[in-house]
Amino acid sequence: MSSFFVRWLRKSPKIEVCRKEAPQERESLTGKKKKKKQPKITTVILLHVTQEKAVSKLFHIQLKMLLGLEFSRKTLLTDVLAVFGLLILALCLLKLTWKCCRGFRQYVLSSLCQVNLRAYGQWAVVTGATSGIGKAYATELARRGLDIVLIGRSDERLQKVAKQIENKYGRKTHTIKVDFTEGASIYSTIAKELHDLEIGILVNNVGMICNDHFAYFLETSNHGEKITEIINCNILSVPQ
Ligand SMILES: NC(=O)c1ccc[n+]([C@@H]2O[C@H](COP(=O)([O-])OP(=O)(O)OC[C@H]3O[C@@H](n4cnc5c(N)ncnc54)[C@H](OP(=O)(O)O)[C@@H]3O)[C@@H](O)[C@H]2O)c1
Repeated sequence: MSSFFVRWLRKSPKIEVCRKEAPQERESLTGKKKKKKQPKITTVILLHVTQEKAVSKLFHIQLKMLLGLEFSRKTLLTDVLAVFGLLILALCLLKLTWKCCRGFRQYVLSSLCQVNLRAYGQWAVVTGATSGIGKAYATELARRGLDIVLIGRSDERLQKVAKQIENKYGRKTHTIKVDFTEGASIYSTIAKELHDLEIGILVNNVGMICNDHFAYFLETSNHGEKITEIINCNILSVPQ
């Protein structure tokens, strides 16, 4: 059986079967002593083991070659690393594309295809409009053509922001001075002030926290009063 495989393998143009230590056995493998024209050799296998093992190894190698699967462990590792690298690269490219699309939508499309906010009503009401997020909303809504009702605790700060908006965007403004911590009583005042205005948008931004720094609630001074103020300002202002 083994000599059959050897003969079969020897017919391959790519493999030469030989044994380094015992060249005379090479002849006995084929049973012929006369010189033969050698096939073109691209792979040489040196046999240092028994004939059976060599035949079995050669048989497997031949099969791999026939199936195009000739690779070593090293090339396998390189292939795996290459695939892994390609996957990472694809992921990075996908992430970059996603960010570019978002940026395009945020900075280009949003300025090109703007919703006509005035269609909802002429006025926008912004609570907590004298600083931070509220002020930013008020300014942007004015830029987009709405007249603004500004609500806050300080008349001075309200007038300052109102003037800025009027001067920069030429929109009308109206200010309402109320403190949302005072509870339900303030809403009748707000209702009176807004009565004749066509309100299209409400930005209920007003809100407070119990401390300017991180601290346990029960360790803050006047926490009994504070909790009522927080509920009035952050929660009651929403359903009213
Ligand atoms: N900034 C953030 O990182 C962040 C994160 C999550 C949530 N928020 C929420 O977003 C909202 C705005 O945040 P912000 O950072 O822009 O706050 P901010 O800069 O402190 O502005 C708060 C605004 O609310 C007004 N205000 C505060 N207490 C009020 C009261 N009792 N009655 C009436 N007006 C009152 C203030 O005006 P006067 O002082 O002139 O009255 C000011 O205009 C808040 O509700 C906040 O909780 C903010």
